[in-house]
Amino acid sequence: MTVNVEWKTEGGGHTGLVADGTCLLDAARRHGVKLPAECDGRGECDTCAVVVESGADLLSAVTEAERERLGDERLSAGERLACQAKAEREGDLVLSPVPRAERAETTEETARDFKGEFKRLPLRQKIATLAGLEADVAYETLVRAIDLPFDIVGKGLDLLAGRGRRLSRGERERRRPEATPQPTPASDEDPGHDGPAI
Ligand code: FES
Repeated sequence: MTVNVEWKTEGGGHTGLVADGTCLLDAARRHGVKLPAECDGRGECDTCAVVVESGADLLSAVTEAERERLGDERLSAGERLACQAKAEREGDLVLSPVPRAERAETTEETARDFKGEFKRLPLRQKIATLAGLEADVAYETLVRAIDLPFDIVGKGLDLLAGRGRRLSRGERERRRPEATPQPTPASDEDPGHDGPAI
């Protein structure tokens, strides 16, 4: 028994057959439709969400994970999680991926956006951004922004090292115990002082 699946995507349509029992995420992969799957199909995100435009009755029952991730409103608008819903009955199914603006961003998408924004920053702001990050995050940033010229990377690292030194100096000063006020040594001219005992 097979299910005919039609995908409506921004890049055009894709159509293909799948055997019954196939989950929609696998169907998308077989049909060359790129559906993000941030949690690897565990039902813990909503990045694989699709809108069922027709053929909802061909699909398996809504799972607990779908209820939790999508909620009543999105479910009643025809959304399903592609990693949870299976094509179970013969017929024609029409699906479209939920647009990015209406679902959570994947880590890859966030990193891509950050890289694009970082590249457009003027040099001073690039360095300020790096200096404002923890050292390991800044390193990650540098690795991701692989097309930065080497000398900029070097300057960024120098700045971070300098900032680290300043921070640890400040930290040492904060931890230093406060000096106990010492009595002022008596002066010979002090009118209230009787002078040394003879
Ligand atoms: S891939 Fe995360 S819920 Fe489907």
